[in-house]
Amino acid sequence: MRFSVTTRDASRLKAGCLVLPAFSAGPLPAATAAVDRTSRGQISAILRSGDFRGETGETLLLPAVSRVATPRVLLVGMGVAAKLDRKAFRKASRSAAHALTRINAAAAASYLATVDVRDTDASRRARVSVECWNDASYCFTAMKGKPAASTGSKNKVARIELGAAPADAAAMRRGITAGLALTHAQSLARDLGNLPPNICTPAYLAQEARRIARGQRKLRVEVLSEARMRRLGMGSLLAVTAGSRLPAQFIVMRYQGAAASSAPVVLVGKGITFDTGGISLKPGPQMDEMKYDMSGAGAVIAVMQAVAELALALNVVGLVPTCENMPGGAATRPGDIVRSMSGQTIEILNTDAEGRLILCDALTYGLRFKPAAMIDVATLTGACVVALGKVRSGLLSNSDPLAAALLAAGDEAGDPAWRLPLGEEYMDQLKSSFADVANIGGRDAGTITAAAFLSRFVGDTPWAHLDVAGTAWATSPQKGSTGRPVALLVEYLSGL
Ligand code: BES
Ligand code: MN
Ligand code: ZN
Repeated sequence: MRFSVTTRDASRLKAGCLVLPAFSAGPLPAATAAVDRTSRGQISAILRSGDFRGETGETLLLPAVSRVATPRVLLVGMGVAAKLDRKAFRKASRSAAHALTRINAAAAASYLATVDVRDTDASRRARVSVECWNDASYCFTAMKGKPAASTGSKNKVARIELGAAPADAAAMRRGITAGLALTHAQSLARDLGNLPPNICTPAYLAQEARRIARGQRKLRVEVLSEARMRRLGMGSLLAVTAGSRLPAQFIVMRYQGAAASSAPVVLVGKGITFDTGGISLKPGPQMDEMKYDMSGAGAVIAVMQAVAELALALNVVGLVPTCENMPGGAATRPGDIVRSMSGQTIEILNTDAEGRLILCDALTYGLRFKPAAMIDVATLTGACVVALGKVRSGLLSNSDPLAAALLAAGDEAGDPAWRLPLGEEYMDQLKSSFADVANIGGRDAGTITAAAFLSRFVGDTPWAHLDVAGTAWATSPQKGSTGRPVALLVEYLSGL
């Protein structure tokens, strides 16, 4: 997809489709008014007719508007002009992008980003346009037997010009660049989540991390073997991989964009490439979806790519503990007690609570980098899906400023989270009769007790946990990986 900025008048462009904003209440936006004049009032007549009301996200495709050079005009509702905020702008841009995937033209020119949006600027409007387009046109065809062309999306649009006021052109170009880096990362995260578990294995993730680092001078990748993990004392992580025939991998991605003395942000992603539950086997229905249990890992790898592509001026470390959770003769049993890298012993009462078992050793390892902040991302609990659905990711943190920054980044990026509490009281549920801590805390407050478990491994480091069990995967309208919370994290890191 190619994006460019044009400052030319909408009525004189010759793209295959012209995308024009219209409000449900408010004046005609300048670009739309220009086309209205050229067509001698055709657009305003449609608005007056009531057939198109301009509500946020409403679209109407008009073929052959008289005296206008482009063969089609897509009218896009933006709601009430005075109320247009970034959320409404995103909604309108998203539905415009969906409508564009269905037209038979190779190029389009969109003037949506010329309107004023209350809480955002031109650069952001361009970036949102790029993101929405990428999201609408994304199609995972790598596993289809026939060539992509015959099995992929019907989308034909390959070039989009974004209309801009001359004063905004430079900012919009910057927005496009940032948007492209973000969408490359989101698509990568989605691809990794969509790939089947027989292909997207721990070794595959390690290879992807190495591939991303190739040609990026500031990004280094090291992959620790199981032997190294054993020497480091990662008994908890190794207990999870015990039933798998595939070797676990511990991926360390180091991006240096600032002085070596500058404390890094450490990101940790849960990389269970398939979660059967282990001996505490999961029920059959929808077990196939547990291939996305590496979404945290996919997000972290993808964010590291975006950080390098954006050449951010900070240090970031991405840690990905990755393995399978399988049953078998060598698998860990409920009742087994293991020693984590931190020295704390863990009684594994349920082998399906495996995410926290690989994350705790990764968090302990992360402390080595003396991080300014540590953020883990995991499809950790079904309870989080119950609590927050597919709308907001769960956020739990021992630091109010870090939590506030992540919540704000999520809202800005259209990838929102919601904070849940932590506290001593919840720790009581994790008491073990035989070890320092148990790996499950019962049915109540499942997302919180999972985070409480993790909090035991971060010391005083400002830390946040993002539970993306609900948000990383969509079941409708299109089943598959969403790439969340890549946008939240890239937004947060870009603001540091
Ligand atoms: N990967 C699952 C969590 C999950 C569930 C993600 C549904 C996405 C959708 C995790 O490893 C798990 O099995 N968690 C258990 C924990 C329980 C045994 C304490 C759960 O949520 O049921
Ligand atoms: Mn599990
Ligand atoms: Zn899991």
